Amino acid sequence: MIYVALDFPTWEASKQFIEQNDLHGIPVKVGMELFYREGPSVVERLKEREHPIFLDLKLHDIPTTVKRAMQNLGKLGVDLVNVHALGGRTMMEAAKEGLLSSGSNAKLIAVTILTSMDKETMNGELTLGGDVTEKAVHLAGLARQSGADGIVCSVHEARAIKEACGPACLSVTPGIRLADSKADDQKRVATPEFAREQGVDTLVIGRSITKAENPKSAYKRAVEEWGYDNKE
Ligand code: C5P
Repeated sequence: MIYVALDFPTWEASKQFIEQNDLHGIPVKVGMELFYREGPSVVERLKEREHPIFLDLKLHDIPTTVKRAMQNLGKLGVDLVNVHALGGRTMMEAAKEGLLSSGSNAKLIAVTILTSMDKETMNGELTLGGDVTEKAVHLAGLARQSGADGIVCSVHEARAIKEACGPACLSVTPGIRLADSKADDQKRVATPEFAREQGVDTLVIGRSITKAENPKSAYKRAVEEWGYDNKE
């Protein structure tokens, strides 16, 4: 599955992007920018138009707050929601509990180490020792033990995580760039084809498609490079 990141300031801009590029019903990711402006109504509108939805709000707070927030997000009927694994075991367990108690079928995934972060920043600024892969594998294991269905990581850690956590651990990877697009602020980038080779389950693609000269053909290329159709 490929989710296209609707990183637009408003619903109007998102709708225009979908309609102008004939991307009706494709899987989409709603992040903080759009959700903080439009609120839950943006999810309702996308659902009416039958888009599978990844609601990427990356919750990270005390367990009780995360549980209650997830109870509300669960009621929106989205397919994927997420938290930061760095919030720890109790917080991730609370997130899952909140989701289940809302009656939601959404999968819970945990962000390991952001794809915009590299080893220098992780070691120097955050004083988190070790290399990125080691840290991501550890956080993925913790996420699975805490009831998460999978993780968000970069393509470069996906194989090591699958080996450590097993094939059922859903891997979702942003930081995807089509062969000719620039990296922007992402540091650990890869192509859809490389992602497939690394055993990734789900891709998130933003600017490589949304900022392309022709987003419709960029989306088509991404699906072709990924090598699966985009129904599952
Ligand atoms: O434009 P680009 O393809 O870099 O967009 C990636 C999208 O994935 C953004 O919406 C970003 O917030 C999101 N994301 C990420 N890294 C994570 C989780 C989500 O880049 N670990």
